[in-house]
Amino acid sequence: DWTMSSFAQTKIAEIKKIVGDKKVLCALSGGVDSSVAAVLVHKAVGKQLTCVFVDHGLLRKDEGDQVEHVFRKQFDMNLIRVNAKDRFLGKLAGVSDPERKRKIIGEEFIRVFEAEANKLGKIDYLVQGTIYPDVVESGTKTSATIKSHHNVGGLPEDIQFDLIEPLRELFKDEVRAVGEELGIPHDLVWRQPFPGPGLAIRVLGEITEDKLAVVREADAIFRDEVAKAGLSEKIWQYFACLPNIRSVGVMGDSRTYCHTIALRAVTSSDAMTSEWARIPYEVLDKVSRRIVNEVPGVNRVVYDITSKPPATIEWE
Ligand code: XMP
Repeated sequence: DWTMSSFAQTKIAEIKKIVGDKKVLCALSGGVDSSVAAVLVHKAVGKQLTCVFVDHGLLRKDEGDQVEHVFRKQFDMNLIRVNAKDRFLGKLAGVSDPERKRKIIGEEFIRVFEAEANKLGKIDYLVQGTIYPDVVESGTKTSATIKSHHNVGGLPEDIQFDLIEPLRELFKDEVRAVGEELGIPHDLVWRQPFPGPGLAIRVLGEITEDKLAVVREADAIFRDEVAKAGLSEKIWQYFACLPNIRSVGVMGDSRTYCHTIALRAVTSSDAMTSEWARIPYEVLDKVSRRIVNEVPGVNRVVYDITSKPPATIEWE
């Protein structure tokens, strides 16, 4: 696409000029916006950019390895993957309130990121994947690539960077076009939205490694079958969640008392409202059979058929 190609070239030149020989930092989540922003900046300044990927242990199956593969292997970027699972799970132990989980994860994320940033010495710029709808939402409508000495949400007052926000003028579909243009894998460019707190808000109530493993496996099967059915780009979000209830089942001659998995899939244009996705019964049937056969500790699968409102997309 000619327009997006010229956008990318213009931005890359602009960033190169702004940054000069200074150092740049980026918190990479593996989401579309931060990925595209990071690759743009990398094309401009190469190894002067360091990306920090905080793996909180609450990601989907294989997600951390994919992020590492794409950015370190494919793009040869400076990537620090922080394996902070034990830290996060430690803080989350015994916590069941959804808002407390979010708060703990948000704060811990900042701490881990800050610790990595401090190890790198003086950093001048921070890349953020802010896109136009975020700009409108926060009410600051300038369209510059760089914003001066903005105190980055959650970081201590004494850590200040100039922000590089190369995607501030773009809508999501344009960000995706730039991503494709830059050679970011199609799967990543079209990735469904995934909440920052990750699987922590998809294991209802208390989080344990066992429960995370159950929801992670069930989710991988659901995603696999949705992809095979050619539905991944037609559904806004689709995932498994663990409602933290057990129910009675039967296997061979004996009764089981195991986890229930809830499948959630919605269509939406902006996540403000949504409809449950009319996934063909055959696909749901396949997913259900695979989950109970392949995921130990699950004997029942249900499909969530509520719209938003009154339900939310996530269960927590
Ligand atoms: P709900 O569940 O409120 O979600 O209908 C709307 C959209 O926001 C995502 N979501 C989150 N994203 N941190 C995030 O980064 C969060 O704590 C969070 N909670 C919900 C959700 O996946 C959906 O896309």
